[in-house]
This record gives sequence, structure tokens and C-alpha cells, in this order.
Amino acid sequence: MSVPDYALLRDLACDVATSAAEMIRRRRAEVFASSDDRGEGSVRSKTSETDPVTVVDVESETLIRESLARLRPGDGFLGEEATGNTEGTSETGVVWVVDPIDGTVNFLYGVPAYAVSIAAQVDGRTVAGAVVDVPQGWVYSAARGQGATVQRADQGTRELRVSATESLGMALVSTGFGYKAERRIAQARLAGTLLPIVRDLRRIGAAALDLCLVAAGGLDAHVEHGLNPWDFAAGSLIAEEAGALVRIPPTSARSDQGELVLVATPKVYHELASVLEELGFLESIA
Ligand code: IPD
Ligand code: CA
Ligand code: CA
Repeated sequence: MSVPDYALLRDLACDVATSAAEMIRRRRAEVFASSDDRGEGSVRSKTSETDPVTVVDVESETLIRESLARLRPGDGFLGEEATGNTEGTSETGVVWVVDPIDGTVNFLYGVPAYAVSIAAQVDGRTVAGAVVDVPQGWVYSAARGQGATVQRADQGTRELRVSATESLGMALVSTGFGYKAERRIAQARLAGTLLPIVRDLRRIGAAALDLCLVAAGGLDAHVEHGLNPWDFAAGSLIAEEAGALVRIPPTSARSDQGELVLVATPKVYHELASVLEELGFLESIA
């Protein structure tokens, strides 16, 4: 199998994610007509009563899967919604790992922080990826070894670089919470321990955007247990290419295993990792 061109995979991820984001913007206006309309009939629950999936999540994944199959027949596909979360076989060595809407609860409520995340992996490692911030229309992307950028209509394209923050005490740290109550008890314990020793905590509600914000220097670290590979596959590469240190589970791991994602600017990473180690939080949580 020949080695794929990572930059071409990145450009393709950007194009497809941008098309999906346009469709999501249009469909949100159609399906959720007014701000107090939560789209009755267009939403069902998934892993718990509070874990929603809307018709637009499924439409977005279908658009992405069909576009990729047309543009690169033979590649594998792992998507959150329609494929039962199992990876299709790849004839080319490339597997696409896709979150069709990351931040579905925000999407549902109209909080402007949700994204499309598309990563290309080879041997379980992300080599290219794009995350599109849907409400803003910003396109974050990276190809392994070639840096990370954000493209904004108002500012053009700029290179991403993590912050120069040097200590955990001055770090703005984001986190996230799973959909199940038992997991949240452990996550609340971790958040309660971190809160007095960091500058502040954020819970934005879209892990892919948290990781892009670390890449852009808008956050200093992201720490979360129990993410799925589609949540972090593209964003972790974007952060890494912008200079972050990254600890992620293997693509085969799933949320239920409760493994840690830790992505941070280098000095903050080391300090945060020692705190997590002392507390036993480098390990999986229930
Ligand atoms: C969720 C978001 C959230 C994170 C959850 C994820 P979804 O993804 O990324 O920030 O805390 O763990 O499941 O369900 O909106 O695609
Ligand atoms: Ca997600
Ligand atoms: Ca999702």
C-alpha cells in the first residue's frame, strides 16, 4: 500500500467538514424553528436519557460518509452515529474517524459551540484532520509534521501555536463530563480538586473545540476521561501540531473504558500530569 499524502487528506477533510457545517447551519434553522423549540420528534436519546442524537447528527454523518466514499473509495470509516461505532474495512490503509456534530447538547439549545470533526488515520494514528466550528465557520486543520492552521473569513489563514503559559496556577483548563451519573461523580471530584489550583475551569461542551482552543492558545489544557475516538482524533492532532503535548487512548478504546485525554501546553502538561498521578487520575475512571 502506498503512503497517502497527508496534506491532501487534510484538504479533503476541510472540504467535506465545511460542506457538512453548511448543511448543519441550514438544517438547524429548519428543524429548530424558534429558540424555545427543541425539535420535538427530531431528537432521541442514546447512551442515557441526557445523551441526545438529532436527525441533523445522522444527516451530517451520512453526508460525510457518502462524500468520502465518492472521493476516496476503499477507505475505512468509523462514525459516531450510523455505523454502530465499528470500523469498516479499509482497502487503502486510511480510516476516517468522524464526529458529525460534536457538542450536540449545545446544538440543541443554541449555545454557539459545536463542530464537525473529521480525522484520517493510518494504523490507528491520526495523520490529518479538520474541525469546523459550525456557528463561526472557522476551519481548524492539520497534517502530521506540517503544522496546524485556522482559517477564518475575517482573518484569513493563520498558523496555530499553543500558549506560553508556564504554570498550572495560571492555566485556564477545560474539561468535560460524560452522560452517565456514576462517571460524573468521579469527574466532579477531579474538577473540585483542580478548581482551587488552576486559574479557572471551563466546560465548553464540545471536546473537539476544546482541543482546537488549546492549539490556538485560547485554553492552556484540556483534561477529560471517557471521550470516544471521534471526539479527539482530529483535535488532538491539531493541538499536537501546534506544540501541545498529548496523551490519548488508542482508537480501539470507547467511552465506557473511561480512559484519560490530556492535552496541554508543555509546561502545564507536566505539572498537570503530576497532579493527576498523585490523585490516581492518570488511570481510567468508572
Ligand atoms: C460530547 C462533547 C462533550 C464531552 C462529551 C462528548 P457529543 O460529544 O464532546 O464536550 O464532554 O464527553 O461525548 O455527544 O456532543 O458528540
Ligand atoms: Ca462528540
Ligand atoms: Ca457527536
